Amino acid sequence: MIGFGVVGQGLMRLLSERGEEMEARLGGKLEIVKIAVRDTSRKREASVDPGILTDSIDEILDDPSIQIVVELAGGVDEPAAWMRRALESGKHIVTANKAVIAEKGEELIALAEEKHRFLLFEAAVAGGIPILRVLREALTGDRIVRLHGIVNGTSNYILSRMASANLAFEPALREAQLKGFAEADPSLDINGGDACHKLAILARLAFLADIEPSAIPTQGIDIVSARDMEFALDFGYVIKPLAIGARLNGALDLRVHPALVPVDSHLAHIHGATNAIYLEGEHLGPVMFSGEGAGAYPTAVSVAGDLFEVARAILSGSDDRATPPYGVPLRALKKLPQLPAEELKTPFYLRLTVEDDAGVLADVASALARHRVSIETILQTVDDEEGIATIVLLTHEAFEHAVGAAVSELSRHSALREQPVLLRIVR
Ligand code: HSE
Repeated sequence: MIGFGVVGQGLMRLLSERGEEMEARLGGKLEIVKIAVRDTSRKREASVDPGILTDSIDEILDDPSIQIVVELAGGVDEPAAWMRRALESGKHIVTANKAVIAEKGEELIALAEEKHRFLLFEAAVAGGIPILRVLREALTGDRIVRLHGIVNGTSNYILSRMASANLAFEPALREAQLKGFAEADPSLDINGGDACHKLAILARLAFLADIEPSAIPTQGIDIVSARDMEFALDFGYVIKPLAIGARLNGALDLRVHPALVPVDSHLAHIHGATNAIYLEGEHLGPVMFSGEGAGAYPTAVSVAGDLFEVARAILSGSDDRATPPYGVPLRALKKLPQLPAEELKTPFYLRLTVEDDAGVLADVASALARHRVSIETILQTVDDEEGIATIVLLTHEAFEHAVGAAVSELSRHSALREQPVLLRIVR
């Protein structure tokens, strides 16, 4: 094992708690023989024989008796290099590292295929929910047409706490960090980077698409304020951090952004750090998976499931016939055209803070009308003391480029007091 943080210690505890049962299920024994850490003297919650701790990764990678490397250290370049070496020397790999799979996956998976080794990463997406295995195996008889996910627990936790406990952004983030959901660098949670990595992996499996994270339009949750949550609720919506994938006219629509979803929709009920993935199969129809997307035990359960898959194959002598990680050889992933964000048609939520003057509302309506954006509902509140009006409106379905053009015109209006807030509505 490389790395012995929250998930590594969870895995250690899990394997020792369930040792006997696991042996019965496997017909053999899984033994953690070495754990590489940066500092062997650091105090850790999980009890571990100090003899198996090492600060030298070489002790793992150069040990021919070690058959599986579990990478739980995080990062991108370093773990990619370790994984390359491990695969080169014939070891199988299990990892929870979404960044490395999303960004360096192609090269590593090609190597795993060439060496006929396992490279499994169930824990990388939605922690304890076995969604990759579902897409790779259980649902392969169908064609996935749509996927809506809440795949970053930290941002869902923050938005949920802002909505339910009226917390400001920072304290909600601190709570998520204390609970162990957040990345070492929480900006990846907040700016959508973590969800973007996960969506790239999901899209490869669900749509067999050769997709890079950099090609996925990504917007963070920091544009959402408590006021937007309240207004959204007035209109019958909640704001959720979504990862979206859909087939549309032969193209793929992939994006990560916060969005308004109806209060009675499935995803509206996914609170706190819980993750969920809603899928629509051409024949299966809708199906939803939800559960813990992070944390020691849920993530460790997924890592253990992968370890079992490899261990079973080793014990049955079939580990040179590993199923490819995306269920198909890498070369079968297709470069599908991506729907340009501007061609996207969706209803929008728009909040404008303006001076309470005659003609401002008429200007807002005419800017939208000029760009053929039709208003569905409108609400205005006025702060008489400040002379400020807040205009909140929902549009009918409109092209993103049309709404964008209208909003950019309005952001130059002399009566504007704050930058407009524009969010998509996903029904
Ligand atoms: N930071 C991630 C999250 C951890 O909040 O969901 C699990 O990938």
